Amino acid sequence: MDVCTSTLPASWYTSNDLYTLERRAVFYKSWTLLGPVTKWPNAGEDYPNEIAQVHFIVRRASADWRSLKVFSLNGLEMRSHLSPTGLLFLALSDEAVSFEEFFPGLEELIAKADFTQYLLRRPLKYTTKANWKTMVDGYQECLHCAYAHPAFAKVYSPVSYKVVNHKNYSQHFTCSENPLDGLFIYMFPNATLSLYAGGVTSWRIMPQEDASSSVMEFDYYHEAEAGSKEFEDYFKFTRTVALEDLELAERAQINLNIGIYTEGLLNPNKENGVSYYQTQVLDMCSAQYEKEQEQDTSSSAQRPFTPKIAQMTDPTCA
Ligand SMILES: [Fe+2]
Repeated sequence: MDVCTSTLPASWYTSNDLYTLERRAVFYKSWTLLGPVTKWPNAGEDYPNEIAQVHFIVRRASADWRSLKVFSLNGLEMRSHLSPTGLLFLALSDEAVSFEEFFPGLEELIAKADFTQYLLRRPLKYTTKANWKTMVDGYQECLHCAYAHPAFAKVYSPVSYKVVNHKNYSQHFTCSENPLDGLFIYMFPNATLSLYAGGVTSWRIMPQEDASSSVMEFDYYHEAEAGSKEFEDYFKFTRTVALEDLELAERAQINLNIGIYTEGLLNPNKENGVSYYQTQVLDMCSAQYEKEQEQDTSSSAQRPFTPKIAQMTDPTCA
């Protein structure tokens, strides 16, 4: 696959029409991490949620977390995947390939921790004024860490930070003296899993029809109870990093919205994670566009958006 040396065009962060293409091209064809199974603790209870305007319900039939399933609002079971160590994934449509084909090798990586031991202590969900990619951009590089995350940078050296890309996921490596640390994963397109500082943080960013805003879902998991010093110290540390990232994303989005940014160059070493996932978005949107061009005009007339090819070709991709 080609490697982009520049960012996606700024219009991709503000166009509602472009987002409707991303929904078909990216979200309907991907698997999304919904989180550790402790997010849905009660048998028989309905846990509603939504990704890319697809509404669904997570439900476990019994106390055994292996009975977790996901259903559409009309009661049909959706395609889900439970990892042996307790992570739940969802495919929004039948257009996604198998879990194993989408995330080859990920199962081995997430086998390094038993996520059933980390209970959900503090879930947060709110609207943020940023496109979903603006937030992913910030997670996928740590060039900004030294100045944007001073407390984090004292523990996790930005100098030695590196990102290794795999098919549809990226593993982040940093150095710390904490033996519990060491698992930072971005999962394409919109989720992360971070096991560090003694707990687990997992977030998803859910795109909205207004492309300049999204819904953020942050879940904080820990062995210690909420209110305990151990958990609150963990939460304070990790939440500080999250709020610093959110502020960066929302400020970047302001500049995207008013046209200050057009596109920029990516550092091939320090921003290889950004380059990787943005190329995935570009490739999937381009393939979807070409596929829809080949379909008959009667069906294409039903779609809300038929983009111009010029919008999806980045001439700076080498
Ligand atoms: Fe950050």
